[in-house]
Amino acid sequence: MDIFLFFLLLSFFRSSSSSSLPPSNTLKKGSVLSVEKANDVLVSTNGVFSAGFHSVGNNAYIFGIWFTKSNGPTIVWMANRDQPVNGKGSYLKLFEDGNLILSDAGLNVLWTTSSPRKTASPVQLQLHDAGNLVITSLEDGNTVILWQSFNFPTDTLLPEQLFTRYTTLVSSSSQTNQSSGFYTLLFDTSNVLALLYDGPEVSSVYWPDPWLMTWDAGRTTYNSSKMVQFDSLGHFKSSDSLEFSSADFGFGPHRRLTLDYDGNLRLYSLNKMTGNWTVTWQALSDPCRVHGLCGPNSVCTYGSGAGRGCSCLPGFKMKNPQDWSSGCASDLNLSSTSAHKVSFSKVSHVELYGYEYNVYKNFTLERCKANCSESTICKGFLFKFEDGTYNCYAKSLLLNGKHSPNLLGTLYVKINVSQNGVVPQNEAIKELDLNCSGKDSKLLNRTYKRNHKNGFFQSLVWFTSGVGGIEIFFAVFGLWFMFTTRKGSGAVMQGYVVAATGCRKFSYMELKRATGHFTEEIGRGAGGVVYKGMLSDHRIAAIKRLNQASQGEAEFLAEVSTIGRINHMNLIEMWGYCAEGKHRLLVYEYMENGSLAENLCTERLNWAQRFQIAVGTAKGLAYLHEECLEWVLHCDVKPHNILLDTNYQPKIADFGLSKILDRGDHKSSFSRMRGTRGYMAPEWVFNMPITSKVDVYSYGMVVLEMITGRRQVGEADNYLVHWVREKMQGESAAKESWVREIIDPKIDGHSDLDEIEVVVKVALHCVEEDKDARPTMSKVVEMLQRRREDRSHFL
Ligand SMILES: *[C@@H]1O[C@H](CO)[C@@H](O)[C@H](O)[C@H]1NC(C)=O
Ligand SMILES: *[C@@H]1O[C@H](CO)[C@@H](O)[C@H](O)[C@H]1NC(C)=O
Ligand SMILES: *[C@@H]1O[C@H](CO)[C@@H](O)[C@H](O)[C@H]1NC(C)=O
Ligand SMILES: *[C@@H]1O[C@H](CO)[C@@H](O)[C@H](O)[C@H]1NC(C)=O
Ligand SMILES: *[C@@H]1O[C@H](CO)[C@@H](O)[C@H](O)[C@H]1NC(C)=O
Ligand SMILES: *[C@@H]1O[C@H](CO)[C@@H](O)[C@H](O)[C@H]1NC(C)=O
Ligand SMILES: *[C@@H]1O[C@H](CO)[C@@H](O)[C@H](O)[C@H]1NC(C)=O
Ligand SMILES: *[C@@H]1O[C@H](CO)[C@@H](O)[C@H](O)[C@H]1NC(C)=O
Ligand SMILES: *[C@@H]1O[C@H](CO)[C@@H](O)[C@H](O)[C@H]1NC(C)=O
Repeated sequence: MDIFLFFLLLSFFRSSSSSSLPPSNTLKKGSVLSVEKANDVLVSTNGVFSAGFHSVGNNAYIFGIWFTKSNGPTIVWMANRDQPVNGKGSYLKLFEDGNLILSDAGLNVLWTTSSPRKTASPVQLQLHDAGNLVITSLEDGNTVILWQSFNFPTDTLLPEQLFTRYTTLVSSSSQTNQSSGFYTLLFDTSNVLALLYDGPEVSSVYWPDPWLMTWDAGRTTYNSSKMVQFDSLGHFKSSDSLEFSSADFGFGPHRRLTLDYDGNLRLYSLNKMTGNWTVTWQALSDPCRVHGLCGPNSVCTYGSGAGRGCSCLPGFKMKNPQDWSSGCASDLNLSSTSAHKVSFSKVSHVELYGYEYNVYKNFTLERCKANCSESTICKGFLFKFEDGTYNCYAKSLLLNGKHSPNLLGTLYVKINVSQNGVVPQNEAIKELDLNCSGKDSKLLNRTYKRNHKNGFFQSLVWFTSGVGGIEIFFAVFGLWFMFTTRKGSGAVMQGYVVAATGCRKFSYMELKRATGHFTEEIGRGAGGVVYKGMLSDHRIAAIKRLNQASQGEAEFLAEVSTIGRINHMNLIEMWGYCAEGKHRLLVYEYMENGSLAENLCTERLNWAQRFQIAVGTAKGLAYLHEECLEWVLHCDVKPHNILLDTNYQPKIADFGLSKILDRGDHKSSFSRMRGTRGYMAPEWVFNMPITSKVDVYSYGMVVLEMITGRRQVGEADNYLVHWVREKMQGESAAKESWVREIIDPKIDGHSDLDEIEVVVKVALHCVEEDKDARPTMSKVVEMLQRRREDRSHFL
């Protein structure tokens, strides 16, 4: 500290133009920062921020502000992101009249603050501790702010920085290229804080969810002050009622809110020890909901190992191999003169948002095809079973497509075939990874004019049509969301806040009160005891008190924030957590109908319910493995961890706990072993690599128990699997008899034996010894659902 003071004094007494001086936070009038001198940077007094020239490419520099203490500089503001300057002869100069200019190679003024002072008073440029670069002048003894970087954010908002009707955040064009991209955060004309995709050809709002009414999204249009307050505790509040807190709410970490190059808005906290950033909130948990990622005639896929990806629809090929956002174009060479007819190729499990020119309710597939064939603007249609009828969404553009086994729509793509030509029949979507290496980044076309007003008007039109044709993920997410939040408008708003923030922090006292001093125990397992409790807002909760408090608070919070962000109808929702001293608690929603284990013992579950539980559990696991923000292995799938809601829909509990309870001890195979005997895959025992296939194995065991009503636990290893296989291959190989022999006597004999047979085969497939022979969870979902779809054809 003393040394620091000494240097400060030293720099004060010596004149300011030499580059050998330790960094200061102030630039005096007439002084220059040169691109050629590495030491020409301003450093805030607290050492957190630096301002200076930063290399963004070969002989290309921007003038910007960055976090000094992160792993590699994290840029938070840029003066010239779209026009980098030369590495020689460029400089930043504060003129005596109060103007700050950035000069490129000494020739032209590239950028200026245009901030002349009014009187002949001294001016200075200062980098404040909050990361704000400010030009002030002394006028009549008062410090007057002539210009500040906080008024001109680029892609990042810092705590205490105001966001208003006059400001926007614009994403970078790629992970490595800082120039302006296509995504913008702004207050729209209806006073709502929104994320807008403003691409070269189309533009649309994708957050808040465009198919929700503003009010249902928890926002209001009535407050026209258009202001955001974002404080250093990590609390965010905007005038349209959007409000959330960082998962690590409280004083301490440095934070930033950044509109990332992938179109998602994320709140980050800096880990002081490692210098890495942790996501503590994000606007969208499903990256495929960001518009414009994959371009026309393609669908976005998320999961299956490589994260987000794009694939062309059948009959189309990628337009620009470097850039998915330009989408796919027709792959067929048809001279416009040659005779051709129209055909459709079918893609299942797809949703497409927007651009329908008409919605036909209660239409047959044949009528839909005929109607689309005749129309010149029809590019295809989405065919979907909703509310007891088949509806047809005729599209004028195939954009914002998403492909996932959970989705229920079927897309029929209109294609031309020459009279003798071949129809592309590949229903399978080709999996292609989005190239995230960043090197072949999307190039910015500088002549391109951003056109917010126009773009916004268009997006409003789509917004309204989207609401009219209530569609897409509504069935999957929205409906469930409405159900759980429909309790008057106040609850809707509160429900939204809960869903958006994931979870909140509780005090130990609060939870002690909620559980009546931890009296009503409702379960035990995975490192803790679960108690029933009532929160101050009268919600009934299941509160888990973890035994081990050995994990540090920071790691605990990191894991909790991961779990808190996971949101799926078949996963238990975490409402909050408590980390105080030695106490570690997790607060979950409470399930009325208890666990699958309890229900299997009674005669309560019929076959239809068991099937529904098998499908729902598979969906929840598929989401954990492949679709959520970070991959999560459950590692302890068993009937006790599958809870049932009032409609006997399954919700998986205790996911993510394996990480919380992990104390980093991987040395011996025993400490590594997790899970419950009987449900554990052979990999655990033989000390082989642990992958998502361990959950697939346990899932298969659970399904076998559901079908047979027999318990694996306490029996010889694999007893149940051997027994079912024997029956299946036995002398009585006729289907009728072997299925009847193995099913739980509590299942009604009139159940669909064909369906039971399919489920048995899927379950046996899941419990293969060889992990590579087991299907993925999304494949399981697909196999079970295909069964249902096939059947609905005959109905
Ligand atoms: C509008 O929002 C601002 C900022 O959140 C708040 O201070 C103000 O009270 C709100 N006005 C009304 C009428 O609700
Ligand atoms: C920090 O991030 C770097 C690069 O992303 C990574 O290699 C490193 O393992 C991280 N460190 C910790 C402790 O997470
Ligand atoms: C279309 O024509 C191009 C060149 O004329 C050829 O390279 C390509 O293979 C053709 N594609 C098909 C599907 O016939
Ligand atoms: C759908 O159409 C059929 C025949 O046109 C009709 O019988 C049926 O009632 C309709 N269903 C609904 C829900 O409107
Ligand atoms: C499509 O069907 C609707 C409703 O039956 C009808 O009004 C419209 O004319 C049809 N369009 C074409 C192009 O056949
Ligand atoms: C099919 O042919 C028509 C007429 O030539 C053309 O307008 C349309 O764009 C073609 N569609 C596709 C998918 O190639
Ligand atoms: C991604 O980009 C890198 C660097 O340009 C390249 O080497 C790699 O082949 C690309 N991967 C794909 C799948 O296109
Ligand atoms: C970033 O994008 C701009 C605009 O397209 C381009 O001129 C520049 O070369 C890119 N920078 C890098 C490092 O790729
Ligand atoms: C930029 O885009 C415009 C219109 O889209 C095009 O005419 C122009 O050639 C492009 N410029 C560059 C450098 O690619």
